[in-house]
Amino acid sequence: MLKFKINEKEVEALPEWTVLEAAREHGIHIPTLCYHEAVEPSGGCRLCVVEVVEGNWSKVVISCMYPVKEGMTVLTDSDRVKNVRRWILEMLLAECPASQQIRDLAAEYGVTTSRFSIENPQEQCMVCGLCVRVCREVVGVSAITTVGRGVHKVIGTPFGKPSEACVACGSCVTVCPTGAMQTRLNAVRGSVESPQS
Ligand code: SF4
Ligand code: FES
Repeated sequence: MLKFKINEKEVEALPEWTVLEAAREHGIHIPTLCYHEAVEPSGGCRLCVVEVVEGNWSKVVISCMYPVKEGMTVLTDSDRVKNVRRWILEMLLAECPASQQIRDLAAEYGVTTSRFSIENPQEQCMVCGLCVRVCREVVGVSAITTVGRGVHKVIGTPFGKPSEACVACGSCVTVCPTGAMQTRLNAVRGSVESPQS
């Protein structure tokens, strides 16, 4: 086991753990959006930032992808971390302004407006890709995918048609952190019947 500190607490972690996994194991909260323990992390939302201090330097890292290291100190709530998180939440407010979940989360950090421009006031999706990863890695069907590149990237189905691969399991809706997948579900699954229907 490796030994290091999270805030003031001495903790131990297996060498293969990430900082986020170690924090969760020790009951220390770090906010996340695109992380789910069932799939590989992607570093998409960056909300899970923490400050890592080693010797006389420190840097802000993404905790869901940063490996634990003997002797380091992790700060989950420093002023630097809170500033970065507020900046990320401002970006998310502009990216998916119609998401109540994102608005609520931002409000927790005192963020109610954004300096970034809003392209689509109806948008709920932050294109974190968690739904795609769960569909591929857990359900194993790849019914949904990312379509397009850069700022034009969206979540959809191959050729924009309801996916025949969809088994209507609802996993994508369950893991979606913004509520966006709920509104896209019919477009994805088409004539596939819901398990509840
Ligand atoms: S639909 Fe939800 S889970 Fe999928 S990319 Fe958009 S925000 Fe992420
Ligand atoms: S939870 Fe780590 S980048 Fe999204």
